[in-house]
Amino acid sequence: MKIKEIIISEIAKKGSIDVSQFMEFCLSGNNGYYIKNEVIGKKNDFITAPEISQMFGEVLGAFLINFWNENINNEFNLIELGPGTGTLIIDILRTANINKNFLNAINLTLIEKNETLIIKQKNNLSNINFQRVNWIKELDIKKNNRPSIIYSNEFFDCFPIRQFYKKNKWYEKYIKYNEAKKIFNFISEEVKNVDLLKNLEKFNHVKVAEISDSRKKYFDLVCKYIKKNSGICITIDYGYKNLPNNFTLQTIYNHKKTHLFENLGNQDITAYVNFDDLIHIAYKNELKIDLFCNQKDFLIGCGLKKRKEELQKNKSGKTYKKIELDYERLINKFQMGEIFKVLVISCL
Ligand SMILES: C[S@@+](CC[C@H](N)C(=O)[O-])C[C@H]1O[C@@H](n2cnc3c(N)ncnc32)[C@H](O)[C@@H]1O
Repeated sequence: MKIKEIIISEIAKKGSIDVSQFMEFCLSGNNGYYIKNEVIGKKNDFITAPEISQMFGEVLGAFLINFWNENINNEFNLIELGPGTGTLIIDILRTANINKNFLNAINLTLIEKNETLIIKQKNNLSNINFQRVNWIKELDIKKNNRPSIIYSNEFFDCFPIRQFYKKNKWYEKYIKYNEAKKIFNFISEEVKNVDLLKNLEKFNHVKVAEISDSRKKYFDLVCKYIKKNSGICITIDYGYKNLPNNFTLQTIYNHKKTHLFENLGNQDITAYVNFDDLIHIAYKNELKIDLFCNQKDFLIGCGLKKRKEELQKNKSGKTYKKIELDYERLINKFQMGEIFKVLVISCL
């Protein structure tokens, strides 16, 4: 069955579905966007920081090596959540050549659910002849027997969210299907659930809320994972700590913004990450918040400018200019510099 038919039959059974269920069908169901498509890159729907420039992975790599030197200095799990094409891990492993002890201590795990991307990651890693790697679809805490370094870029924005708004009372947005007009449309239902209303209280001043239970649950597992045998988790994503007063869900097809009801299963659907939720979960797990800042401050603090200057040495013309433009794209406040945030939590 096509995604559209699956959603219509689910709506026929339930009367309506919430936004997170709609997203789940489109992104992760049979034939869902993240299951079947190659999604990242200039020719596809969007481009991410590691795909823009090698500098991103190199300075993140330098940060990880530094943390390992100071705190682990032993065999460890290096785990990437949602590695995409594998570009970020390749850049990190290349940087790791400056510290062979770090390189040799790595047990690499890539957590990926997209089969096309897994093949791409395998090819890319075999090109650099790195073999201590395994692929899994879910973090398995029972198998964790060493310190871990877990990191992700643009992973937590993929999780489905429910949408609420306040007009005297709280309402949730649901989706129905109009059989006569053959179109999906939004409806609103008053929130009556007492626990949910309590949860929504912290959004009272902004009057809109996006809540992702699956994202919170996943991050809680990540926290418990590093709590078990110590470690660190670095989360890079677009998002906020101070609640916005607008919905942040967006859909992208071929680098252009679209509507949620278009291109079902063929377009990216994301929502900004609520970092306040993640910080709260980390504290609940008694972890330390080492850092929360925007991408610009993180990358500059890790030596991005110096790395750019090294790459520009002996270059001229177009190549020199491209390095400059890529650098700008990563840190400029109107591009990725401010909207992307970095959260570092640890347990030592
Ligand atoms: C937006 S892409 C980012 C890719 C890469 N990190 C980068 O920066 O280029 C999201 C990645 O996470 C994967 N993904 C999304 N949800 C996932 C999940 N629940 N479990 C495992 N992988 C997931 C996607 O298949 C894709 O590889």
